[in-house]
Amino acid sequence: MPKYSIFVNGKTKTVEVENGTPLLWVLRDNLNLIGTKFGCGIGICGSCTVLIDGKAEKSCSVSIESVEGKSITTIEGLAENRNNPLLKAWIEVEVSQCGYCQPGQILAAAALLNENPNPSDKEIEEAMNEVLCRCGTYNRIKKAIKKVVAEK
Ligand code: FES
Ligand code: FES
Repeated sequence: MPKYSIFVNGKTKTVEVENGTPLLWVLRDNLNLIGTKFGCGIGICGSCTVLIDGKAEKSCSVSIESVEGKSITTIEGLAENRNNPLLKAWIEVEVSQCGYCQPGQILAAAALLNENPNPSDKEIEEAMNEVLCRCGTYNRIKKAIKKVVAEK
């Protein structure tokens, strides 16, 4: 099997996987980064969302070879900084219910704020619609994002 070098959470990792393997499987099965969740596997639910070069991407839908040389951040990388304002706001607002979708939600929120530091309610709704929450935590997600924006 071919070897690939990828840059995940600030470190270079080498993995040996089949060409075309989705990044999601590499993160979970090869690197044990199981904070990235498997939901639909076909690019619809967003639970597998990670940051690739600062943008939100569904890791089930990008192949290992397409991310070589790019910077990948998973929830484990974001959570290394316990003072991360998104994490703090998520805890203070008590966003999570079952929690399954929340790593993807937090990374989608991080990507939104990377691109747009002061999003409107509509822009927050549009960006966050990419990650489905079966527990219906959208109002608390919006509240947490607005808290981060207000406290900057
Ligand atoms: S598991 Fe990737 S979008 Fe659902
Ligand atoms: S918190 Fe349960 S799916 Fe979102």
